Amino acid sequence: MPDLFTPYKIKSVELRNRIAIPPMCQYSATDGFVNDWHMSHYASLARGGAGLVIVEATAVSPEGRITPACLGLWNDEQAVAITPIVKAIKDAGAVAGIQIGHAGRKANSNRPWEGDNHIKSDNPNYWETISPSAIAFGEHLDRVPREMSLEDIDRVCYDFVQAAIRARDAGFEWLELHFAHGYLGQSFLSQYANNRKDSYGGTLDNRCRFLLETFTAVRKVWPKDFPLTVRLGVVEFDGNDAKTLNESIYLVNKMRDIGLDFANISIGFSTPNNSIPWGPAFLAPIAARVRAESRIPVASAWGFEDPHIANRCIKDEQVDLVMVGRKHLANPHWAYQAAIELHIERAAWLLPAPYAHWLERY
Ligand SMILES: Cc1cc2nc3c(=O)[nH]c(=O)nc-3n(C[C@H](O)[C@H](O)[C@H](O)COP(=O)(O)O)c2cc1C
Repeated sequence: MPDLFTPYKIKSVELRNRIAIPPMCQYSATDGFVNDWHMSHYASLARGGAGLVIVEATAVSPEGRITPACLGLWNDEQAVAITPIVKAIKDAGAVAGIQIGHAGRKANSNRPWEGDNHIKSDNPNYWETISPSAIAFGEHLDRVPREMSLEDIDRVCYDFVQAAIRARDAGFEWLELHFAHGYLGQSFLSQYANNRKDSYGGTLDNRCRFLLETFTAVRKVWPKDFPLTVRLGVVEFDGNDAKTLNESIYLVNKMRDIGLDFANISIGFSTPNNSIPWGPAFLAPIAARVRAESRIPVASAWGFEDPHIANRCIKDEQVDLVMVGRKHLANPHWAYQAAIELHIERAAWLLPAPYAHWLERY
């Protein structure tokens, strides 16, 4: 069996293979609620054979949404509404995960296909954005956020905990805290967004404080048997990566000591001034370094669409899981196609019987 298709066990959770579908916002919700679109989207992704399906960035509070059309878990009704999607993912044989987050200074934007920029203050969908410091991201996200008070910090931490409880009660078995991509968690860590003078800014320990406090609080409510994971941007590709990566590894080690089970290694996106070396599996060596220096299992996304490359990265133990995003949008049966390309006999076993029966037979 190619390494990509070996099962992966972590805590009480077993993935049927090493293929994960990373969180991908659909920007299709109303008031944070899932609807028919989300059901058909996630059910079809889970049917395709991946081991893990992580539901898109789901906001812990209304103000934490990237766009007004993002999902939320800030009330119990939203948790009830998402439960059938959890069941659909599990029924299709995948593990159901969810990413929860707060978009910080990147919140309150228009959908990507409607400009991706901040919503103007005279629009009824406008809301105030908050961040560690009153520093705008720049370019199309040019609004200056309000600097968070200590009460804001406590409240957002509490919101993460409440959302984690709802995710647990909805039946998710894999929780990812979104501390990447220039959103709130990443903004505390990054000096591009954080110039606070109090205990949440300045030194590395201070910049880690919000992430560690939030992680600790969530760990208390998230079941011990289920993986608690983070997505972290460990490089910016801005010319300062040696420092950023070292700081990130320091943080991952701190988190490991308080119960981190797994890390999804990604890009910081804290500054528009970057030069990202896009290419096949280009983050894999960086993820491998985090893995080696923290002894935490890792995944990474970005450019794993060639099954041979994905398989090699697993075989070489650079990553424990590969995250394949956009290619799953193009083809929800990507895992099945990958199995065929890797010459797995009877690849159709990955699919549900109403498909597999016919694909195996003829
Ligand atoms: C439509 C879309 C939505 C995304 N939404 C999220 C998200 O909710 N959370 C997140 O951490 N990353 C998000 N991402 C990034 C993906 O998780 C992934 O890292 C990226 O697509 C690169 O993997 P790929 O090359 O396999 O597509 C999104 C990407 C896409 C294309």
